[in-house]
Amino acid sequence: FGEGDPQARVMFIGEAPGAQEDRTGRPFVGAAGQLLEKILENAMGLRRDQVYIANINKCRPPDNRPPEADEVAACLPFLRRQVEIVQPAVIVCLGRTAAQNLLGTTASTTALRGKDLTYLDIPVVVTWHPAYLLREPAHKRETWDDIKRVNRLLGRPEVPPPTPPRQAG
Ligand code: URA
Repeated sequence: FGEGDPQARVMFIGEAPGAQEDRTGRPFVGAAGQLLEKILENAMGLRRDQVYIANINKCRPPDNRPPEADEVAACLPFLRRQVEIVQPAVIVCLGRTAAQNLLGTTASTTALRGKDLTYLDIPVVVTWHPAYLLREPAHKRETWDDIKRVNRLLGRPEVPPPTPPRQAG
């Protein structure tokens, strides 16, 4: 459904749960999730429990296909409410499915990256989905640039200090 800090200043939105996410009930816990955690730590100096992570679709579409319009329509009100409750300062759309469905556009990730976009008056930054980066690592540099923009929008240093250790308890 989603997880993280309910008072997070940044919210990441992916596509839909994959097989591992479906099994565990947690977003981004598979290979793409591991890369997302690395991006958070290295480019933002944050642990995953310091941000909020959600998906456009709350259930895994059959055969891992992208969610269809009626499935998105069924799930979008829940995501909207998540955004209203968390009230992040910045939303990051991971990949085309998140960006197109949140923003109501058919534009490509390439066209949307670097643009000044908003959802419910909250700035939205579009970047590559980590699963895509696993297949096309040459695009990691662009994700680094996108995350620098997120840091700027959050009023944080572009190159963050090291990630604080997880607190005991
Ligand atoms: N990919 C997504 O888009 N979301 C997840 O939760 C896991 C993989």
